[in-house]
Amino acid sequence: MKAAITGVHGFVPDYILTNEELTRMVDTTDEWITARTGIKERHILRGEGLGTSDMAVEAVKGLLNKTGTSPEEIDLVICATVTPDMTYPATANIIADKAGIKNAFGFDLNAACSGFIYTLVTASKFIESGTHKKVLVVGADKMSSIVDYSDRTTCVIFGDAAGALLLEPSKNGYGIIDSILRSDGSGRQHLHQKAGGSVRPASRETVDAKEHFVYQEGQAVFKFAVMNMADVSVEIMEKNNLKSNDIAWLVPHQANLRIIDATARRMGISKEQVMVNIQRYGNTTNGTIPMCLYEWENKLRPGDNLILAAFGGGFTWGSVYLKWAYDGNN
Ligand code: UT7
Repeated sequence: MKAAITGVHGFVPDYILTNEELTRMVDTTDEWITARTGIKERHILRGEGLGTSDMAVEAVKGLLNKTGTSPEEIDLVICATVTPDMTYPATANIIADKAGIKNAFGFDLNAACSGFIYTLVTASKFIESGTHKKVLVVGADKMSSIVDYSDRTTCVIFGDAAGALLLEPSKNGYGIIDSILRSDGSGRQHLHQKAGGSVRPASRETVDAKEHFVYQEGQAVFKFAVMNMADVSVEIMEKNNLKSNDIAWLVPHQANLRIIDATARRMGISKEQVMVNIQRYGNTTNGTIPMCLYEWENKLRPGDNLILAAFGGGFTWGSVYLKWAYDGNN
């Protein structure tokens, strides 16, 4: 039995942080940000007491509404996030509570920017095994809660967003066909958050040293990302005998336009076949891939071959090959 995506929805908060506004906060320019990353603006969740689950619930409610699914029918919720509402309980549980989902179990999955595809593959196993019938796959991050807005090397990159997919047993044979997921913990030194975990719990010192923010060695991550996201995407094509013109869409994690372009070039596919919205949202970590699927939904047709590809801290990386299962226009 195959697991098929049967609906997708996304949400971004209203406030738009432009490159121009960033030039008034740190020593940067619109030209630098555009040339090095492809980003023009990003959305930021503002408001006291609002967290990742508040964006995710908007995506989930929209998804349940458009697919005609009642909250009681959902039997599993998995949330990919690096910015949970709290260390515990899982944000998936909070989302379920706020959305009126009463008959599901839920948990969070953390694989940094690869979290959404890890979660999609994990969720698909519950469908394929026959134990679960309607699974919510959520990818959501309030990156603004862990970004230092005085650090120009990271604050220009990230934004806030949430996306949600409904996964069900396939009715027409289309769905998730194959995946390759990888991780290498020795890469953790290049991209991490230094404090707030059990090794270095929060203290006055960790706050003063700004250790609760994203720490990233951009160039090291860039090199690893270019090589591995392209490699794993080509590998899944070869494994499934896919030529470049068999692929309808590449759906890449939106971390940097140059990384996306390099991956597409290695796969031999044209820019027209690549979903890119980084210019409007920046890197929303677990929100990037579902936000792309949401925005391109009305162009997707049953049987379209999609390659999803991601790369992130850990290091983690991977690709998913699926055949789109429904007419996104309906
Ligand atoms: O999704 C999770 C995975 N993360 C990623 O995939 C991120 C991968 N890395 C990247 O996307 C890029 O490395 C960055 C966008 C983070 C940085 O771009 P880069 O082309 O690698 O720049 P760089 O770090 O080599 O810095 C080049 C110069 C430096 O100045 P000097 O030393 O040459 O004088 C930086 O200080 O650019 C400077 N710089 C900036 N200048 C203006 C760094 N950030 C900025 C900025 N504005 N915002």
